[in-house]
Amino acid sequence: MPVVQTKGPVRVGVVGVGNISAIYLKNLKAFDGVDPVAVADLDPARAEARAEEFGIPRATTPDALLADPEIEIVLNLTVPAAHASVAQAAVEAGKSVYNEKPLTITREDAARLLATAKERGVRVGGAPDTFLGGGLQTCRALIDAGEIGEPVAATAFMLGHGPEGWHPDPAFFYQTGGGPLFDMGPYYLTALVAMLGPVRRVAGSARASFAERTIGSQPKAGQTIAVEVPTHLAAVLDFAGGPIATLVTSFDVWASETPLLEIYGATGTLSLPDPNTFGGPVRLRRSGSETWEDVPIAHGYAENARGIGVLDLARAIRLGRPARASGELAAHVLDLMHAVHDASDTGRAVEPATTCDRPAALPVGLAWGAWDE
Ligand SMILES: NC(=O)c1ccc[n+]([C@@H]2O[C@H](COP(=O)([O-])OP(=O)(O)OC[C@H]3O[C@@H](n4cnc5c(N)ncnc54)[C@H](O)[C@@H]3O)[C@@H](O)[C@H]2O)c1
Repeated sequence: MPVVQTKGPVRVGVVGVGNISAIYLKNLKAFDGVDPVAVADLDPARAEARAEEFGIPRATTPDALLADPEIEIVLNLTVPAAHASVAQAAVEAGKSVYNEKPLTITREDAARLLATAKERGVRVGGAPDTFLGGGLQTCRALIDAGEIGEPVAATAFMLGHGPEGWHPDPAFFYQTGGGPLFDMGPYYLTALVAMLGPVRRVAGSARASFAERTIGSQPKAGQTIAVEVPTHLAAVLDFAGGPIATLVTSFDVWASETPLLEIYGATGTLSLPDPNTFGGPVRLRRSGSETWEDVPIAHGYAENARGIGVLDLARAIRLGRPARASGELAAHVLDLMHAVHDASDTGRAVEPATTCDRPAALPVGLAWGAWDE
């Protein structure tokens, strides 16, 4: 049965406390409305160390965490291959779950997770939550205010040479569920869907340019990784509302000068910040003008606020309203990423089976730690 608690902070248990968990734990400790009370990992020493580092009351096993009646949200920061099994077990234990991206690896697992959550009366949320940051919320407000007119198109480019130079354990980036689109595409696609709404048609081409990768970071420097997934993907996305976006994600490019994210409207162009960050810069160029305007960031959470999606989910649970970084949004983004691969494999455009609502905008001026109703 779902845990029913109507007031006080929502207690969160974190499963998988590797690299990314530090920023989540730091922020969740600082936000009102959520309380991280337990951490668990396949590696018990890692859980102990994180609990001590961040003053979390309990380090435990994943099974014990899921059985803990105090925990309402399971924050699933495991590697992508474990996202579905950990999340499914959490909702079956009557808990809401918030997954790091991608939501799951397969569309079937995502659909099953959402269906089980609905049956059990619990929520599903998913990263990224960067679209709730001050930079992208400022962009959202500009679009909603008609500052670029009706959006007609967008471009998104994530071009790099992969994470094996810096990540301590980078093999999963080149295995099923990895690759540049599954790893970085969620930031770009979630930002685009949050700005422009859901996508109705996807075309795409994909290739893997290098059969193996050599790790440059410690402790595995010099070891090689076999590449199992495409590492350069180009897509065309038709939004249900009309705009057409071009998205290219790559781990095969050494250098590039393409902008990261731009939205083109009938009366102007919006230059968006890196969607893997929470702040600016935001720039606007109006039709007829020969200069770009720097737009000040009036929205809160313009610093590294990873975890605000969990805070929003907690408020959504308490207030009985939809969550912004919702499972439906994350499942749509997952569906779009598969659609790019499928379109490339079949040589045909793909119509996604999923859709989602455009998440509600945030008000301006939220203080760090506080959230809207
Ligand atoms: N590292 C980053 O900068 C970054 C940024 C954004 C998102 N992410 C996402 O966060 C997730 C984790 O990435 P990371 O870099 O922290 O990886 P990591 O390998 O550093 O940490 C993953 C942790 O999960 C644990 N784990 C794996 N399977 C588990 C299971 N079944 N039950 C319990 N624990 C399990 C591992 O022991 C490890 O401690 C990934 O989905 C990744 O896409 C990472």
